Amino acid sequence: MHTMQLPGIRVSRHETPGTIEEALRLLADYGPAARAVAGGTDILLELSRRARPDVEVLVDLTRIAGLHDITLADGLLRLGALVTHNQVIASQLAVHHALPLAQASLEVGAPALRNRATVVGNIVTASPANDAIPALWALGASVVARSMRGERRIAIRDLFTGLRRTVLAADELITAVEIPVLGNARGLFVKLGQRRAQAVSIVSLAAVVEFDGEIVKSAAMALGSVAPTVVSAREAEEFLVGRVLDDDVIAEAARMAATVHPIDDVRATARYRLDEVEVMARRTLKTLRNGEERSRWPSNPIFLAPAKVKPSEIAGTDFRASHTSNTPVMCTINGLPVEAADAAGRSLLDWLRNKVGLTGTKEGCAEGECGACTVHLDGVAVLSCLVPAARAHGSEITTIEGLAKDQPFNPLQEAFIDAFAVQCGFCTPGFIMAGDRLLEECPEPTPEQVAQGLSGNLCRCTGYYRFYEAIRGVANGE
Ligand SMILES: Cc1cc2nc3c(=O)[nH]c(=O)nc-3n(C[C@H](O)[C@H](O)[C@H](O)COP(=O)(O)OP(=O)(O)OC[C@H]3O[C@@H](n4cnc5c(N)ncnc54)[C@H](O)[C@@H]3O)c2cc1C
Ligand code: FES
Ligand code: FES
Repeated sequence: MHTMQLPGIRVSRHETPGTIEEALRLLADYGPAARAVAGGTDILLELSRRARPDVEVLVDLTRIAGLHDITLADGLLRLGALVTHNQVIASQLAVHHALPLAQASLEVGAPALRNRATVVGNIVTASPANDAIPALWALGASVVARSMRGERRIAIRDLFTGLRRTVLAADELITAVEIPVLGNARGLFVKLGQRRAQAVSIVSLAAVVEFDGEIVKSAAMALGSVAPTVVSAREAEEFLVGRVLDDDVIAEAARMAATVHPIDDVRATARYRLDEVEVMARRTLKTLRNGEERSRWPSNPIFLAPAKVKPSEIAGTDFRASHTSNTPVMCTINGLPVEAADAAGRSLLDWLRNKVGLTGTKEGCAEGECGACTVHLDGVAVLSCLVPAARAHGSEITTIEGLAKDQPFNPLQEAFIDAFAVQCGFCTPGFIMAGDRLLEECPEPTPEQVAQGLSGNLCRCTGYYRFYEAIRGVANGE
């Protein structure tokens, strides 16, 4: 059997602590057999690919109150450990004070993934291709790490020891990320990928430059996807200080940034990466010099979540649960109470289909790439193949079977039929579940917003124009 066909690791226990102290106690008690889970978009894939054979217990942090906030105090923007990429994008504070991070978050996957994927999860996975890391690196951010033994602050630049490795101990949790505000500095994050959504970066670059008049006072430039960890373009950083950013200085700094030794892999050759680093560094520095770093920030990004749903309100303060294969998950599905066991170690998709008997939600890829498994979890679109089933405990879920409530079809389903937007139909439930949230959030989306909203959904047969037509048809009341 090919390694990809082997079954993944199924954890035997899913713990849901209600406080950070309980979470730390669980990690200390279980030792290396336990692993924290936030959005689950990395760890669930690692388990399914058997990359973490020792893990038997997941410690789900998402019900801990107080970790969902973005706050500003004493020149530091502070992100709680559960802040998602979509929260960063939606936060005026983050966009204003830490623009490169917001730009990086906007590059992560697609909207439904970003509804669960956290900034801290992105950091701890420690892939050099993870978008938040170069942004936080250039911004000079630190993390606050806590265990039963105490608390420490670690600069992002000192966190990584190699590919997917950090200095964090197995029983340590990151509780917050602290980012010095941009103040007078300007910053930008850019990414080169093969498409506009769901793309692993080929090269990413973040730069933060502080000016004194026209002269560069300080410069930070971080490069992603060129080495086993994110790296600084040190020579370029030092060269820029004390100079005016004219075209010659920019060209020389960009050339210096391209003196790293990039990796050669399936996504690109080292030579290509090197060329791109130079081009990206040059364009980035010009953009910063011209003060145009905010020009491409979208005025109305799409989240596939109704504005009224706040993650901090979803998390319950007194919530505490522990699930093994025998413990039932109790939740509301399509308006009805449901109780079904055997959730630990399963994805929500697997549990809905095989334990609850709702097979309308489809499994296209089981790794977050196709959107066929999209459901609504507490009102927001999520990829059910990347949600631990036990996370459904105490939640409200809507699947394609419940979307029309007591009608045969809802208006969007009707519009799909009218627009001939269905061929084999395998992707259809996912498109409709995403499209429904898009229309709820934004009843009259522009073509660009429809494209954003559906960017995480793939169809192998129909072509996308009919989906767009159906959604625009509902929006226009046709
Ligand atoms: C289809 C798809 C597309 C993707 N696209 C991108 C992309 O474009 N760019 C990108 O950068 N990433 C991308 N990712 C990767 C992933 O979504 C992000 O890295 C995400 O931010 C991880 O966050 P999470 O909350 O889901 O992490 P989880 O999977 O919950 O956790 C990730 C790791 O962090 C640890 N962890 C979580 N919280 C804590 C904590 N508080 N303290 C200590 N350890 C903790 C976990 O134990 C685990 O090791 C993609 C993933 C998928 C499946
Ligand atoms: S995204 Fe979940 S099955 Fe493809
Ligand atoms: S209609 Fe067949 S995959 Fe989309």
